[in-house]
Amino acid sequence: MIPRLGVCYYPEHWPEAYWAKDAAAMVDAGITWVRIGEFAWAHLEPNPGQFQFEWLDRAIDTLGGAGLKVVLGTPSATPPRWMLERFPDMLAKDAQGNPRSFGSRRHYCPSNAGYRAAAAEMAAVLGERYGQNSFIGAWQIDNEYGCHDTALSYSDAARDAFRNWLAERYVSVAALNAAWGNAFWSMAYNSFDEIGLPQHTVTQANPAHEMAFRRFSSDQTRHWNAVQVAALRPLTDAPLLHNYMGRELAFDHFALARDLDIATWDSYPIGFLSDRIDATAAHKKAYLRQGDPDCQAFHHDLYRALNKGRWWVMEQQPGPVNWAPYNPAPLPGMVRLWTWEAFAHGAEVVSYFRWRQLPFGQEQMHAGLNRPDDTPAQGLEEARRVAQEIKGMSAIKQTKAPVALLFDYASAWSWEVLPQGRDFSYFNLVFDCYRALRALGLSIDILPLSACAEDLEAYRLILAPGVACFPPELTQALAALSAPCLIGPRSNLMTEEMSTAVPLGPNLPGMDARVVLVESLPPDGALPVRAGGALHRWAEQIEGEAEVCLSRADGAPVLLRAAHLHYLTGWPDATLWTRVIEVLGADVPLTPLPPGLRLRDTATHRFVFNYNSHAVTWDGQEIGPAALTWTPLS
Ligand code: GAL
Repeated sequence: MIPRLGVCYYPEHWPEAYWAKDAAAMVDAGITWVRIGEFAWAHLEPNPGQFQFEWLDRAIDTLGGAGLKVVLGTPSATPPRWMLERFPDMLAKDAQGNPRSFGSRRHYCPSNAGYRAAAAEMAAVLGERYGQNSFIGAWQIDNEYGCHDTALSYSDAARDAFRNWLAERYVSVAALNAAWGNAFWSMAYNSFDEIGLPQHTVTQANPAHEMAFRRFSSDQTRHWNAVQVAALRPLTDAPLLHNYMGRELAFDHFALARDLDIATWDSYPIGFLSDRIDATAAHKKAYLRQGDPDCQAFHHDLYRALNKGRWWVMEQQPGPVNWAPYNPAPLPGMVRLWTWEAFAHGAEVVSYFRWRQLPFGQEQMHAGLNRPDDTPAQGLEEARRVAQEIKGMSAIKQTKAPVALLFDYASAWSWEVLPQGRDFSYFNLVFDCYRALRALGLSIDILPLSACAEDLEAYRLILAPGVACFPPELTQALAALSAPCLIGPRSNLMTEEMSTAVPLGPNLPGMDARVVLVESLPPDGALPVRAGGALHRWAEQIEGEAEVCLSRADGAPVLLRAAHLHYLTGWPDATLWTRVIEVLGADVPLTPLPPGLRLRDTATHRFVFNYNSHAVTWDGQEIGPAALTWTPLS
């Protein structure tokens, strides 16, 4: 595949006289795709029912006429002010019960039937007008589900929909009481209508109640998306997509993606390091202007899994952003590195956010490829360079990675609902594992728990840390393989209803091991492991006769084995992760890399990325700061 560049553009923000010149400059820079329209509702329908599409017709003609392919967004993330008059109850409410107010974006509640129908109607109106337009190459539905903490809404509409959802799931309130363990604290209900949302409780709400609300909320996001998809599908043959976020776990992306054709995500490496990655101060300092060396790759691998390998970066950071606690500028070279890293992981398109920095509004401090005075910024130079490099590059072909890492949104909810320790985060556990694998030079595929035996069989190493509850088919599929599999910590110890599994987990075929006690540990409470490394944050005590491969200094088992199945009894620090991976003995070459250096192997090329601010010599080649190399593989 030959990858392409794109850019996000807002014709409604600029005088029409700019459009043709902007389009020509995009083409001149080597850009192929342009995304427009995703926040333009008030420009398309300034008053209820009074549509004005002529400007968008001309914008699409101008951009398309210049040779660009257009991604057209449905504008449902920014309902205009008048929509509130139509649907006064459309606002989402936060957990404190405060309505989100108009004046930024994403203030809608996805459970509000009135606004949902209006959004679907708008998608249909756009589909009717542009569905067959040859310049439209793809459609984006809404913008960044979950952004600004909007996946959970505590509105009346959400409460009513939740009750219906519960009635469908449990059928009788007696079944719900039993499933939730409502014998505890006299929490039994006599009817579904008595059940509220898990908020305002004096102390912790029932974890089963909270988990049900998390599952419901995820379904509501999926349903919201599906309704617009249903409106658009019959009107266009162009692929439908959505732009997901980094470290957004509040809805099941695998489930939502089933209704779409391409997964895209918005990559802001420096913003994420400042805002969303838990790391030491030294790590944040070392990568201040580069971003975390594994964060982008993790999300590339995750989103590659959603739609059979079809994925893009829809928004790529081009310079300083405006929204993180600190917003440093990228080192020269990083925009190019991030772009190539996405291509190396299989992105079809990397699209920069945005064409020109806007001199007004909330995001006026956010860089674009061009400055607000219409002068090219650093990002544009680097994008141009990538476009030139693409021309000289042979097609990049993806292949199955040697390592599979299982990822599960419901596990993230389980451990948020019942953390049992301040530092227990599912994302961090999985990310630590991913980081350790990458530091050993491995390329990784991420898979959902719905992966079947056939999906898993070619992998030489399979890891599933922190999966709250394994589907029985998955346990059987893993047991039938021969490659080493790592399960744990905190895996298969609970039921789907947030009850402790009895018989005690992990219940792995052929393994005599039961977790009889769990501990969460404060930062200074790490437990050393014999011959190096430690368990921190989380440790389990085991009963049983399973073979022990690694032990704590106090003799307690750390890694257990039964044939190729392994169980890990705690959260390893970085040193221990490396040892665990070594002990698993997978049939894969382990290549310990210098800090900040990362590899990605495709079927056709090996890419080497240097996230450091200094040059690194590795494998006989010097790789400059914030730079990369690639070598064709024969
Ligand atoms: C994304 C969003 C864009 C823009 C950007 C700024 O979250 O999709 O609309 O706000 O962040 O970095």
